[in-house]
Amino acid sequence: MEIIKSNKSRISKVDFSNLTFGEEFTDHMFTCDYIDGKWINPKIVPYKKLKMDPSSSVLHYGQSVFEGMKAYKDSNGEVFMFRPEENFKRLNISAKRLSIPEFPKKYFFEGLEILLNFDREWIIPGIGNSLYIRPFVFANQAGVQASPANKYKFLIICTPVKAYYSENVNVLISEKYSRAANGGVGFAKAAGNYAAQFYPTSLAQKKGYEQIIWTDANNHEYLEEAGTMNIFFRIGNNLITAPNNDRILDGVTRKSVIDLCRYLNINIEIRPISIKELISAHNDKSLKEIFGSGTAVVILPIKSFNYKNIHYNLIENKDPQSEFLKKKIMDIQYNIGEDPFNWRYKVPKSTFSK
Ligand SMILES: Cc1ncc(COP(=O)(O)O)c(C=O)c1O
Repeated sequence: MEIIKSNKSRISKVDFSNLTFGEEFTDHMFTCDYIDGKWINPKIVPYKKLKMDPSSSVLHYGQSVFEGMKAYKDSNGEVFMFRPEENFKRLNISAKRLSIPEFPKKYFFEGLEILLNFDREWIIPGIGNSLYIRPFVFANQAGVQASPANKYKFLIICTPVKAYYSENVNVLISEKYSRAANGGVGFAKAAGNYAAQFYPTSLAQKKGYEQIIWTDANNHEYLEEAGTMNIFFRIGNNLITAPNNDRILDGVTRKSVIDLCRYLNINIEIRPISIKELISAHNDKSLKEIFGSGTAVVILPIKSFNYKNIHYNLIENKDPQSEFLKKKIMDIQYNIGEDPFNWRYKVPKSTFSK
């Protein structure tokens, strides 16, 4: 792999105690090109601007997918990731749906490892600190033909982060807008899915709700995701989450919560959950918790929801399962607790010296 080292680190200019999510990027990035039917030129280079043709197909047809994962540092300075294989698999599931050529596993992991070694100092130890890793791929053919491109670019960039949201959130249940439809691309991490969320989310924010709970596109009856998180409801003694379908992103955190619940004998049900059931559980006080799950937040408790202009506050829970599950996952991520599933992935020290 070609490696070009940055001759001046920007790390001393970064205020790590005051980070805004995703604004500062590390010194290096990984890039790779798809040309003439092959992925070629894997490289680590200094983080820099890209040159693009104005007719580049991604700018017109949005043929692009991405991933979101994190690296964590323990108190001995070792670097870990959480189930990166799952992100790699999902990247190619997304790519296939968007007609983007599959990315080779060898380049993905080699690129990640060298990059994380090069920018190791950007990973700050301590719970809540992490390096958010953004692999992404986009169509880069010049020309405005509405067809799959013959050139693509794959990159990995990294940004140091603290916890995503600091407070519990309030959500608005969607009655009108959908993020995904049957047969569509909701299960893929396609860039356009996120663009389509911005407008409805901004309307919810004007009403005082940080996120939207997306409902099924057919009748807006079933609760599917919350913003960019999967969603769980604790009713009575059961934790309930919607089954995966082609509208829902198959979250790595969601599947980890499900596996942990089974391992810890917490009742977990994977089944459709309707707004009707939620409101009736709220009314009879069996609704104990709602929380979202995702790489950025790990687990995020939801403190209220709105449906058809009625605001429902959740009763404060003294012993939230969300906190317990979050700690279990973070203990694995930060190399503190037992890892019965081998989810922790130790990033090997690179053979490439800096
Ligand atoms: C729409 C959507 N749902 C769910 C998730 C959670 O997925 P994961 O746990 O893999 O981060 C994400 C974030 O990646 C997302 O964008």
